[in-house]
Amino acid sequence: MRLRWSPVELASRLTKRGITYNFASGSPDPAVLPIDEVRKSFENIYEKYGTSILAYPGAGGLRELRIEISKYLGRVLNIRAGWREVIITAGAQHAIKLLSQLLIRRGTVVYTENPTFVETIAPMRFQGARLIGVPIDEGGMITQELESLVKKYGKGIVYTIPNCHNPTGVSLSRDRRKHLLEIAEKYDLVIIEDDPYTPLYPNTEPPLRSLSDRVIYVGSLSKVLGPGFRVGFVVVYGKLRNDLEKLEQHDFAVATITQYLVYDLLRRGVADRVIERARDLYPRKLRELVNSLSEYLPDALILKPSCGFYSFIRTRVNAWELLRRSIKAGVAFVPGDRFYVGEGEPDTARLSIGSIKIELIRRGIEVLGNIIRAVTAGAT
Ligand SMILES: Cc1ncc(COP(=O)(O)O)c(C=O)c1O
Repeated sequence: MRLRWSPVELASRLTKRGITYNFASGSPDPAVLPIDEVRKSFENIYEKYGTSILAYPGAGGLRELRIEISKYLGRVLNIRAGWREVIITAGAQHAIKLLSQLLIRRGTVVYTENPTFVETIAPMRFQGARLIGVPIDEGGMITQELESLVKKYGKGIVYTIPNCHNPTGVSLSRDRRKHLLEIAEKYDLVIIEDDPYTPLYPNTEPPLRSLSDRVIYVGSLSKVLGPGFRVGFVVVYGKLRNDLEKLEQHDFAVATITQYLVYDLLRRGVADRVIERARDLYPRKLRELVNSLSEYLPDALILKPSCGFYSFIRTRVNAWELLRRSIKAGVAFVPGDRFYVGEGEPDTARLSIGSIKIELIRRGIEVLGNIIRAVTAGAT
């Protein structure tokens, strides 16, 4: 199995310096990250737990944190789960890697939106998954297409990002949610729901997991409290839950000190306050991006995003070439070809509004538009 650099990693290595308009990063906006509260939590856990914060973590996660996350699930995501059904992981990425190790063997069929998030697909590929791309539109995964593909390729896993999809920003419509669950029931499919962005927007559809216990839910605090924490979680029942806990003995990847910190931040209501600010900021940023695109790059949007950090655009020129040029003008993004299952489209790109300041979005898109026009006119 060949290991590859993710395009997100590659783009961020290319863009280490001199970038004014960063549409590449999937990190949250520093303006809403609770850095002062983190300092306070450090002091709290030092005072309260002393050297316990330096002990080895147990598999499955710190009990106090699992309890806080089970409350958070009910409060923020409309998901009912006891604390034992919550397994703490080192981010959603680690959760998906562990689930892949448990569920995927060479040839296991995995259905997923096409394009999809390349970094979570990588560990599935590594396990030997046979990936089947399902087309999407502005209503998310086209479940009629999924059903036809399942009839052809058979039983397997559906890996899906139903809310605020990465890289397109679309969300699964209500009817298709119902249909997806019916298909899963009818053909006995496992569903893995990857859901880092729902908390950040008001009026999102509740996660699939809130409708059915057969869904394995993967959540993350990366976009709320900061990806540096590396704290995510899985909601799962039964044998798979036990196996996941046992598998965590292989890496004990989530630091004890981090788990105490996140526990303290949740307990003090810090995550809820961040979410309140995020729900005001990110929808405005996404609107600014969409409006700027319609002004400076009309027809570039492939699908209109509904929430999250991302939009997927057609660049009309090779996106890696374009990236090299646009970096010189201080603009970064992630080329879209590697987000595809199978043959990628070289003239596509993912734009993120995650960490760029809202005031810079319009000008950044104007600059990008000028470069694209200059390249297509052969004038540079
Ligand atoms: C859809 C999706 N899944 C998973 C992740 C990884 O999240 P984490 O930082 O929790 O590993 C991301 C991050 O961008 C994402 O967009």
